Amino acid sequence: MKKSELLNYQLYTWYEHNKRILPWRETDDAYSIWVSEIILQQTRVEQGLPYYMRFIERFPTLVSLAQAKEDEVLRYWQGLGYYSRARNIYKAARQLIDNHYSSFPSTFEEIRSLPGIGDYTAGAIAAFAYNLPYPALDGNVYRVLARLTDCEIPFDTSAGKSHFHRVAEELLDRSHPRLFDSALMEFGALFCVPISPDCTACPLQIFCDAYAHNTVSLLPVRKPRPKIRDRYFNYTIYITPDRKTLVHQRQAKDIWHHLWEFPLEETEQLLPVTDSPYIDFTHQLSHQRLHARFVVRKTNNLPIINDTQVIDLADLDDYALSRLTLKALAHFGI
Ligand code: ADE
Ligand code: SF4
Repeated sequence: MKKSELLNYQLYTWYEHNKRILPWRETDDAYSIWVSEIILQQTRVEQGLPYYMRFIERFPTLVSLAQAKEDEVLRYWQGLGYYSRARNIYKAARQLIDNHYSSFPSTFEEIRSLPGIGDYTAGAIAAFAYNLPYPALDGNVYRVLARLTDCEIPFDTSAGKSHFHRVAEELLDRSHPRLFDSALMEFGALFCVPISPDCTACPLQIFCDAYAHNTVSLLPVRKPRPKIRDRYFNYTIYITPDRKTLVHQRQAKDIWHHLWEFPLEETEQLLPVTDSPYIDFTHQLSHQRLHARFVVRKTNNLPIINDTQVIDLADLDDYALSRLTLKALAHFGI
């Protein structure tokens, strides 16, 4: 027996005794499996399950989904977040029907070409629905593979993805792809968990290089997160007696491009304020932390500031403003 055959045998035995009974595992209908995989993309199984049941009850087939209105599809998604997933699933259904498919496609390439479907989802559908020999690498599977091979390549980089894809292809059981992908995924989800897996009781322990080298808690490795940059924004809300103010439109190549805001001075730290009302907010973006101070300055004469326009405060509604600016306006009751 090859090492990989023994490993898979151990894996399958574990799976048969420990797998969860999940409705999308009880079917080989590609449409239903597709719906389940899209729901589970950024959602835990327990949270996604009732959505899956309701969605499949209302839209049991590709045709029924394509014939619905987008609004109704989105309503069935309400509470799951990431509406782009629902828009894509609907768009894909429409596209398939427009291209005269009467059911979900059955080759990896056709599946992979649909909106909202990447390598993971295409592999999962190909294997779960059609038992085709494609690996399905989700976060759980990356973790198991990184540990089994004691590999420090960050899995969330293109180099890491292709490396672990090759590792998975090596291990993939071409006679039972559906079983292999399901078992490996479930093993990562339930047993080889991120924090403190029970390695001493692990059925794959003898195959696990990370266990042998005592590196389990260090794996898998992700790419370093970009450092968070702190920025300090000093906004001035000028108000004249006839309720005029100054605004300017942000330019591209920075956050909030083309949104409108009050005159801004960006500094190395927030500027002190004397005798004027002000409010501070911090606002977290993916790679920046903004420290914003809004100062209200009553004045008889608006200053001359480059690239600003004079408008009536009452007309602010006509301008697209950042959420931060809206929060400041609400605070001051403007
Ligand atoms: N997460 C994503 N796909 C899944 C599946 N088929 N079963 C359980 N969890 C999953
Ligand atoms: Fe995962 Fe530990 Fe088993 Fe290795 S020994 S596969 S790290 S649970």
